[in-house]
Amino acid sequence: MLLLAACTGSADQGATGAELYSQFCARCHGADLNGAIGSGLGVGSDLVDRPDGYITDVIVNGRGSMPAFRRTLTDEQVGRIVDFIRSEQGS
Ligand code: HEC
Repeated sequence: MLLLAACTGSADQGATGAELYSQFCARCHGADLNGAIGSGLGVGSDLVDRPDGYITDVIVNGRGSMPAFRRTLTDEQVGRIVDFIRSEQGS
């Protein structure tokens, strides 16, 4: 019997920040970070002036209609997503 390593919705440990972002965030914040259901996170957004700890806190604990990711993502993966957002912001 062939068992496939199916995509179960849990995060791939080796995934890059960009891959994690597109898997878990893009549907609400847009593939280009310009926002959709959720706010814009990229260039020109309020987030540019916020500290990394603020972004980490929102991802881990959720906010308003944004789900918390503390059970889905490890601290390290959250860190990779924050780094990805910063690189997209050009900093
Ligand atoms: C189900 C939709 C949804 C998903 C999935 C989602 N978000 Fe959000 N996000 C939102 C909404 C809605 C808000 C605004 C929350 C509020 O302030 O009421 C938000 C707010 C934020 C904020 C704060 C923005 C600011 O300017 O204060 C950050 C940072 C953020 N999201 C990052 C992420 C990241 C990174 C992911 C992926 C790990 C993610 N979000 C996944 C809907 C989502």
